[in-house]
Amino acid sequence: MNSTDLPEWHALAQRRRALEPIRIADLFEDDPQRAARFSFEAASLTVDLSRHPIDTGTLSALVELARATGIERQRDDLLGGALVNTTEERPAWHTALRANPGDRFIDPACALRLSADRERFLGFAEELRGSTVTGTGGLPLDTVVCIGIGGSDLGPRLVTEALGPIRGPQVRFAANMDPVDLDAALAGANPQTTLLLAISKTFSTLETIENFRAALRWFKEHAPDLNPAPHLAAVTSQPERATALGIDPSRVFTFPDWVGGRYSLWSACGLGIAIAHGRHEFAELLSGAAALDAHFAQAPLESNLPVLLGMLGVWYVNFWGVKTRGVVPYAQRLARLPAYLQQLEMESLGKRVDRSGAPLSIDTAPVVWGEVGSNAQHSVFQFLHQGTAWAPLDIVLVADHDASQDPRLRLLNQFALAQADALAWGDAVLDDELRPSYRAAPGNRPSTVIRLAHLDARSIGALLALYEHRTFVQSVVWNINAFDQWGVEIGKQLLARRTQPSPPAPLPQAGEGRNPTTG
Ligand code: F6P
Repeated sequence: MNSTDLPEWHALAQRRRALEPIRIADLFEDDPQRAARFSFEAASLTVDLSRHPIDTGTLSALVELARATGIERQRDDLLGGALVNTTEERPAWHTALRANPGDRFIDPACALRLSADRERFLGFAEELRGSTVTGTGGLPLDTVVCIGIGGSDLGPRLVTEALGPIRGPQVRFAANMDPVDLDAALAGANPQTTLLLAISKTFSTLETIENFRAALRWFKEHAPDLNPAPHLAAVTSQPERATALGIDPSRVFTFPDWVGGRYSLWSACGLGIAIAHGRHEFAELLSGAAALDAHFAQAPLESNLPVLLGMLGVWYVNFWGVKTRGVVPYAQRLARLPAYLQQLEMESLGKRVDRSGAPLSIDTAPVVWGEVGSNAQHSVFQFLHQGTAWAPLDIVLVADHDASQDPRLRLLNQFALAQADALAWGDAVLDDELRPSYRAAPGNRPSTVIRLAHLDARSIGALLALYEHRTFVQSVVWNINAFDQWGVEIGKQLLARRTQPSPPAPLPQAGEGRNPTTG
């Protein structure tokens, strides 16, 4: 089934045409209750959709399209662990990692296994925090260098930073093949008190393996007499590969291969989070996400946050031809949110064929970009206010900053809302002074304002789960598999060709561009 065949799709195309001349400002004028009507809450999050070129009829039509694509059945399949990742023949059951005991979607035996895995890595994290994990020299390990990339880095690093100052062993991250990244993570570290933690679902990702080897060389160079084994640990779905690299099985923490890399921070991949902030914070993170999962599973589609945000994504990509979307978190500790979302959304939705393998006739993933607020105001907002292309924006802020003692935090939220208003109303909201065209800001540019109740583990868990499910909703409407990433393989295969000792016979020349075998 392709959504474009549905009457609901065509109804939306008509609505799009009808809405063309209507300005967001007019929608507010016509409906004094608009702000309340388009504000939705779930799991310590409040989402304001009022600054979008949509009326209640359009929002209902978007929900009807979601319903017509079978979103409820497919959602239950996802939450129930059905084989939704068709090309890899696996579930995508990251929600099981944070499910509450007795959750109707999780069979007790599976829940038991998952909680045993969780107990193992959280136990290890607490031992490290309790200084009872010692190195060869008998000193407690107080510095942990997490070596991983992509989903094995972006989520854990985002949450570790988002939860604020580390109260425990120092946790550092290295991802890039460029040695500068690992050197920075190892700078000033004492090998006697350092744990090298390799995080890789496949344990075959070249950057991670090479960086882990380089870290091991660093260890041997700086502590030639020390046995490195007590200073090594790993997180993976392929434990045999980690032990083959010399890591003691008791230090290999596992998670099921039906957890996608970019959905894996809830698993042992989040070990760095637990070491830095403790098992209680990690449990809060899981609870916040589980609360959002329950909302996704139970809330009527009309007030279901992932469905509403997902369908707005479809609205812009498929009915307004928008190619990008921006994310501006107004909290320095969320500075890595855009990078995390780039992988989550673009690796999940950057697909050109549907689930049957047929080429798609519609657009899918927009380019996701972003910068932390208020820095972004001094870089990308010029484009947002006066550019010819426009992009829907997510503005993420922390509600309790409004009551902060620090005037800068109160101002930060005012900045965010002033920008959202300026984008929606343009300079018409200021006065009716006629400005020279180069100064005019036309407005009518959409933004979603997402408020976290607090910048704490529960709200962060809910926020990331919201984005995960928003992504899934779009994949259902576009009829694509959100959980594979075959497109990344070609780069890896050509790298292998370039780095193989004797490359095969050159390929026939294919038009412009360099011959990959001869460089
Ligand atoms: O190359 C892309 C990718 O496979 C991502 O999907 C994944 O998150 C990342 O590489 C790292 O993979 P791994 O955790 O297996 O090292």
